[in-house]
Amino acid sequence: RKPFRVHHLAAAKDAGRPLTMLTAYDAPTARIFDDAGVDMLLVGDSMGDNMLAHANTIPVTVDEMIPAVRAVSRAARHALVVADLPFGSYEDSPQHAFATAVRMLKEGGAHAVKLEGGRRVAAHVKLLTDSGIPVIGHLGFTPQSENIFGGKRVQGRGDEAAEALCEDALALAEAGASAVVLEMVPAPVAARATEILAIPTIGIGAGAEVDGQVLVWLDMAGMGDWSPRFAKQFGQVGAALRAAAASYVDEVRSGAFPQAEHSYES
Ligand code: KIV
Ligand code: NA
Repeated sequence: RKPFRVHHLAAAKDAGRPLTMLTAYDAPTARIFDDAGVDMLLVGDSMGDNMLAHANTIPVTVDEMIPAVRAVSRAARHALVVADLPFGSYEDSPQHAFATAVRMLKEGGAHAVKLEGGRRVAAHVKLLTDSGIPVIGHLGFTPQSENIFGGKRVQGRGDEAAEALCEDALALAEAGASAVVLEMVPAPVAARATEILAIPTIGIGAGAEVDGQVLVWLDMAGMGDWSPRFAKQFGQVGAALRAAAASYVDEVRSGAFPQAEHSYES
């Protein structure tokens, strides 16, 4: 298998081959997902809520994310590693975005970065891509703006909002973005954006008429105790892990573990 790299994104769209992306925040999961054939591993700022037990993505810092990016980059053999720029690390200027993105590549080993927003970050995207840093955009429900939206709510409903979303997507593509994530967008709006863009769209809660899908791995694998409507559970990893831990506790307490086969002779 050849490594999946940025130039394969547009090629996949042209060939009609659906793209696959999963989040990963550490080496063991990155290794498993890479082996499973996932095209892209996203070290998302969803690390804040999913791994660090914050209420949402807002509090996670660049310094917290870098070791996760480094672990995923070391473990990935084929997948493209994408690092999110977390809240507060890029919005105020293209230069700030550049400085943070450079850390994600130089210290983290990421191949690309992802940031949220449309026209308001077009200049950021242009500086990064002009500087050799591939960028993936993120539109629709953008979790870093959760406090403006007033919660996790579908975005792009209604003609005006749908038109604005398409304008934002076109601006990102024009600025040099390699792909755009569309999160919690009505399926017909995501389909329209997918049709008008030459770069791929990667949906999460955006229906089937997009160029690829992304999920938070804990939602995908049934690892968490809750998952959103758009996240199908493809496994029950949380239940399997709980059962394994409970068996371990039982066997240590009963004396069933360890046996001679687990012990060393003198
Ligand atoms: O941080 C994240 O996990 C994301 C995906 C849900 C797209 O941005
Ligand atoms: Na994110």
